[in-house]
Amino acid sequence: MSSHLFWNGVPIAFEPGETIAAALLRAGIVDLGRPDDGPGGRVFCGIGACQGCVVTVAGAAPVEACLTPARDGLRLGPLPWIGADHG
Ligand code: FES
Repeated sequence: MSSHLFWNGVPIAFEPGETIAAALLRAGIVDLGRPDDGPGGRVFCGIGACQGCVVTVAGAAPVEACLTPARDGLRLGPLPWIGADHG
């Protein structure tokens, strides 16, 4: 029986030892999305330096998908976009 995480509610299979980013990329999910026409997140550096792959985790703090091991039942989605006018 394979393990699955969920990206925007869609089940994504992963292999033992894979990161979230590896599972999403293997499933063809490249654009990690931002709502409200913000710039799309994506895996860029793959080593935790660029923050391009940060995703929302249901019930927990956001994580870097390239560093975080996939876990069965994990529910993920894009970060809320707060817009370029903030800060
Ligand atoms: S891809 Fe750069 S921090 Fe994950």
